[in-house]
Amino acid sequence: MADTATNEPVYKTDALIAEDIDTYLSTHQHKTMLRFITCGSVDDGKSTLIGRLLYDSKMIFEDQLAALENDSKRVGTQGQEIDFALLVDGLAAEREQGITIDVAYRFFNTEKRKFIVADCPGHEQYTRNMITGASTADLAVILVDARKGVLVQTRRHSYLCHLIGIKNIVLAVNKMDLVDYSEEVFDKIVAEYGEFAKSIGIENFTAMPISGFKGDNITQAPSANTPWYKGPSLVDHLETVEVRSAEDQDKPFRMPVQWVNRPNLDFRGFSGLIATGGVKPGDAVRVLPSGKTSTVKSVVTFDGDLDEAVAGQSVTLTLEDEIDCSRGNVLSVADNPPEVADQFEATVVWLADDDLIVGRNYWLKLGTQTVSASVQEPKYKVDVNTMEHLAAKTLSLNEIGVAELFTDKSIVFEAYKQNRALGGFILIDKITNQTVAAGMLNFSLRRAQNVHWQPTDITRADHAAMKNQKPRVLWFTGLSGSGKSTIANEVEKRLALMNRHTFLLDGDNVRHGLNKDLGFTEADRIENIRRVGEVARLMTDAGLIVLTAFISPFRAERQMVRDMLAEGEFIEIFVDTPLEVAEQRDVKGLYKKARSGQLKNFTGIDSPYEAPENPEIRVNTVEMTPEEAAEHIVRAILPLK
Ligand code: ADX
Repeated sequence: MADTATNEPVYKTDALIAEDIDTYLSTHQHKTMLRFITCGSVDDGKSTLIGRLLYDSKMIFEDQLAALENDSKRVGTQGQEIDFALLVDGLAAEREQGITIDVAYRFFNTEKRKFIVADCPGHEQYTRNMITGASTADLAVILVDARKGVLVQTRRHSYLCHLIGIKNIVLAVNKMDLVDYSEEVFDKIVAEYGEFAKSIGIENFTAMPISGFKGDNITQAPSANTPWYKGPSLVDHLETVEVRSAEDQDKPFRMPVQWVNRPNLDFRGFSGLIATGGVKPGDAVRVLPSGKTSTVKSVVTFDGDLDEAVAGQSVTLTLEDEIDCSRGNVLSVADNPPEVADQFEATVVWLADDDLIVGRNYWLKLGTQTVSASVQEPKYKVDVNTMEHLAAKTLSLNEIGVAELFTDKSIVFEAYKQNRALGGFILIDKITNQTVAAGMLNFSLRRAQNVHWQPTDITRADHAAMKNQKPRVLWFTGLSGSGKSTIANEVEKRLALMNRHTFLLDGDNVRHGLNKDLGFTEADRIENIRRVGEVARLMTDAGLIVLTAFISPFRAERQMVRDMLAEGEFIEIFVDTPLEVAEQRDVKGLYKKARSGQLKNFTGIDSPYEAPENPEIRVNTVEMTPEEAAEHIVRAILPLK
């Protein structure tokens, strides 16, 4: 990697950073590493400070330095001093020319430690970047301009850093040279910040008076200009503050299993990165969520077996017993395991341009676990400038809210506050594969723990066998007026003649009862389909062949229902009628109403219809009569048992 070879600070996307970090780590293996984030705007002197840190740790190459000196002279910086901001901003300009990145990472090291600093732009619309940069940080440097004091953005940055779980906060009161190194100014800012910090739950922070420009209290403290300051220099503090991995080692053992290592029949090991605690041969461990226990036989690494391994190390564990354990499971100390649940309260930071769709299923990734999850209507969202709680129906880009979150399967977790690895998650759009949110699990909902699936003696298979058929869902989708209900009705009649047990769920009918509280907004349609999906699933448990006739305009929800059912049980039938044809038929007169503006959110007019890409069956109602379509469908689903 160019960065470590040339010592040049680099801008990298998050995906590349892991590779960089690996290279970097192996270069300075013996030193501990501190990751930190700097928050503030260029006006606060952030670029100058970072430039200064890089310079003082000799991270700038000679030729770069010469260029910098020249540039500084050209722009007329006073005296002999170098304008460090030029270095960093020069790189920023480079970034704007081509590479799109959100967070800039720089690597540097001193005698005692190696550092990775994430530099995030400070504007409000960059919450996304800050959350990305802060999520891996041990420490945050919050920069304040001594002349301006605590600003709205100071509060915002502090709140986000605290939210993401950064325990070490440094309040760097910068540009002290411009306020004559006044102790009084410094004290006032610290007092004001202290009050705010307490109000949002920041227990302690380290305040220091600095000048990135002049170098005061950066490497040595106290500087001659601030004899009244009794604390450490910034670098001293960065070199000695306790890093998170040290703290994590004192917690109970947890290791999310990344993969099962089985090169041959004689060896079976579970590989992963130890999130917290330590493990050694002889330790009693438990596999979650199954709860099975065993004893650690050996702790294997590339360099041989270890007597003990701790948080931050990647290892392979072999166990004394042959127990089930696969990717996504968590290995934990036997007598103090993490929780397993499927309903939570979570704090969600929305990162996508499109709003959160309440009730929609997204992929939730938490460590090595991936499940389907939906976010409910937020209890509130937080105004990141005032920390006020506001009412919210959804979350938009850069908004932070607290909401209940449901997963389709139970997951192993711990509250984010206790364990970032088992409490932090991201949400991914199932269709676009884009990361749409980052979040933190706060706690599991107790009601979920008290509701258990009741096993029944007459099983699903018994029900199906008694009816002499294979339960299935024939899911008709298409525009309003496409012919779904008519064709479904014809199919059901044919199945009845064949002595099959069926039930037809029809959009218009279900909306008179079960779903009469729902309208036609995106969220209501999603809830409509979710409920219908659940009902259809229960009916398949009863052994029925279920036919459903709903517009079901969104791919994501059709996929959701598909995922609820066993493989092969969901049969998507696309009733393919062009909009012009459906509109011309206009059986219920609704298209006319929609066109004249009397009916809002009408599918195909001012609400989208996402046609299936790979339906199991497609019927073209222009070429086929409903009877022909029904024949075609019945033939396609044979045999029925
Ligand atoms: S879905 O989109 O949520 O799947 P569903 O199939 O239940 O819709 O209901 C569609 C039926 O509701 C239509 O056939 C039509 O009779 C009626 N309807 C009333 N308003 C609308 C609307 N805005 N958009 C679509 N259908 C509507």
